[in-house]
Amino acid sequence: MTVTTVRVPAKVNLQLGVGPVRDDGYHDLVNVFHAVSLFDEVTATPAATLTITVEGPAGVPVGPDNLAVRAARLLASHAGVEPRVALHIRKDIPVAGGMAGGSADAAAALVACDALWGTGMSRETLLELGARIGSDVPFALLGGTAVGLGRGERLTPVEAVGEFHWVFGYADGGLSTPAVYAECDRLRADAPAAWPVVSDDLMAALKTGDPLALGRALTNDLQPAALSLRPSLAAALAVGVESGAVGSLVSGSGPTCAFLASSASHAAALGRTLSGTGRFSAVRQARGPVPGAVLI
Ligand code: C5P
Repeated sequence: MTVTTVRVPAKVNLQLGVGPVRDDGYHDLVNVFHAVSLFDEVTATPAATLTITVEGPAGVPVGPDNLAVRAARLLASHAGVEPRVALHIRKDIPVAGGMAGGSADAAAALVACDALWGTGMSRETLLELGARIGSDVPFALLGGTAVGLGRGERLTPVEAVGEFHWVFGYADGGLSTPAVYAECDRLRADAPAAWPVVSDDLMAALKTGDPLALGRALTNDLQPAALSLRPSLAAALAVGVESGAVGSLVSGSGPTCAFLASSASHAAALGRTLSGTGRFSAVRQARGPVPGAVLI
């Protein structure tokens, strides 16, 4: 194979239950991931050395910190090959937006380089290498809907009926994930976090495919922290509710706002209304669940 391209989805968290901070600085989570149809593409081309180029919004690191670069290096060293690849990322997932765009690119780079170099890694190995790059990388490989425990990397797929229709409101400027977790700890300093458990209401909503029930069951323990760091998000979420969204929450660590619609046509109408408010730098429709990183 001379060139490989992998398409990889963004995620929204249907439940983000954040437990107490651990000794290693991470938090134990109940993280119900849901892959949605906003995609990045990573292309891997043979090259003398490892290089990276990015097409799309500003703010993506183009050095050794880029998660796709780290993933390619990790795979090469694990497989005992030289990381000879030119990576090119076409970004559509917002940068530092709480939709795991960087993790998605790492997952895509693992799949693209494994195919390019013929290293033939098992699914389990790719998941394990992905978890070393970041907590959300294994889910970007898996896709669909899944419960993630531990840091979020211990995944169990969830059977979801049908399709859900979303509208995402992007914000100008990202939020740093470590900063949002730190703010969550600060806000909870006087009342330590309870151990999170998977929401029965959420699992029931996913089994029936009822968007109204899903909308009622959406929760995000990082939302107060994201709102504390970015107070304008409160009004942005309220606008979604006033515009008829059946559920609204901050996506992951934010600042992207996720709005659930009751149907595809409702999502189209909601998207037009939200665009017209001028509160978001961009408004995008997406459906979920969709598969994880795939060669195209
Ligand atoms: O794993 P990843 O590098 O993507 O995590 C980014 C940051 O998010 C971590 O450095 C940590 O501050 C926070 N985090 C956490 N608990 C988790 C996952 C992430 O505190 N389970």
